[in-house]
Amino acid sequence: MSFFPCCPSQKRLRKKTLKKNIKEYHENKIKTSFSNISFKTDSGKRKFITDEIAKLGKGNITSKYIPYRELCVATENFHPANLIGEGGFGRVYKGHLKSLNQVVAVKQLDRNGYQGNREFFVEVLILSLLHHPNLVNLIGYCAEGEHRILVYEYMVNGSLEDHLLDLHEEAKPLDWHTRMKIAEGAAKGLEYLHDEANPPVIYRDFKASNILLDEHFNPKLSDFGLAKLGPTGDKTHVSTRVMGTYGYCAPEYASTGQLTTKSDVYSFGVVFLEMITGRRVIDYSRSEEEQNLVIWAQPLLKDRRKFIQMADPLLKDKYPLKSLYQALAVAAMCLQEEADTRPLINDVVTAIDFLARKKVEVDQPHHTKHISYNKDDEDNNNNENEDEDDNDDNEDEDEDEKENIKKSHIINSSEY
Ligand SMILES: Nc1ncnc2c1ncn2[C@@H]1O[C@H](COP(=O)(O)OP(=O)(O)O)[C@@H](O)[C@H]1O
Ligand SMILES: [Mg+2]
Repeated sequence: MSFFPCCPSQKRLRKKTLKKNIKEYHENKIKTSFSNISFKTDSGKRKFITDEIAKLGKGNITSKYIPYRELCVATENFHPANLIGEGGFGRVYKGHLKSLNQVVAVKQLDRNGYQGNREFFVEVLILSLLHHPNLVNLIGYCAEGEHRILVYEYMVNGSLEDHLLDLHEEAKPLDWHTRMKIAEGAAKGLEYLHDEANPPVIYRDFKASNILLDEHFNPKLSDFGLAKLGPTGDKTHVSTRVMGTYGYCAPEYASTGQLTTKSDVYSFGVVFLEMITGRRVIDYSRSEEEQNLVIWAQPLLKDRRKFIQMADPLLKDKYPLKSLYQALAVAAMCLQEEADTRPLINDVVTAIDFLARKKVEVDQPHHTKHISYNKDDEDNNNNENEDEDDNDDNEDEDEDEKENIKKSHIINSSEY
């Protein structure tokens, strides 16, 4: 598993390169050239494509060109036995690349699907220029004839969807702490795209199946074909065709096509709610009023006493009650109808980072420790000279909580 922490100067270089090069892309240079140019030979086309990618990447392209025949060998001719997944854009196969002696995931883009050259190039460029421990690593790509193939590091634990929403009967459900760690890492991936990339990159396809998990359940965002560069200068949004996945799209984006980083924050809220409840955002197997997770959750999110009803039954009540409250409060903030009132992703990271560090407290009995969203509050709570008001608040909260516990009969006092 290789991560690519960037040193500051590299980072700056990559940011600059990304900005310039994707801008060039958006100025349609490539789109025109790829759709209009016809090649006499396949190798001529391949050379043109690799040259274009190298040119746009200005020497920073970390993925390499992998010939189609090598991918046929790696996947045993795309044998169905090696098929590990299928999405809207094509099939994904597990394979072994002899040249690198590495197990890889090979995504063969479906030419009949709606992912075309634009998505292919955006994905190659973004994943070649931006590197972060919470973004999947693109090892290579192939563009031969009609084939458009992306080769990624293989993520042993598949996607969050496999472990949360498509769980096999014998599979072990994710525990609370792992869920918070996954949410934290996924939020950090988004934070990198929104705050470190310049201009910001709007991911546009944040959903459970695009959060891949490595052997330690570290999450990595995948599928950047729909990613868009965010607004620059005085602009507040970019206008674009509505793409993405039904249920995860922010309401203002779905209705007007106006995209901001807050659209990603909304999608994050949807996935976070899926992680807490174990429910799929759209689930037609449920009764009508429960088919849309967000609509089902809205009234419950307004009443703290109902929060317990929302927790995934597969958690078997093993979660710290206050963390559940706080996690749901974060989800509710991200899901605000009004984009401006949603938090920025770095605020979300701060809140979830705190929840993800609560493991010790889940495992050890502690009755009165006050849990709050931000680190400053946490420091205050560790301070023995807390002022009296704070203590009063704690007592009130604890009483409140005990009341809830009595009502629910489910939370073991040693767990919070
Ligand atoms: N790099 C990877 N490593 C392991 N499994 C992967 C990888 N990429 C994709 N998959 C699996 O293939 C499935 C299909 O992926 P994808 O084509 O991106 O469609 P979608 O995101 O719509 O599910 C994913 O849900 C995941 O289970
Ligand atoms: Mg995907």
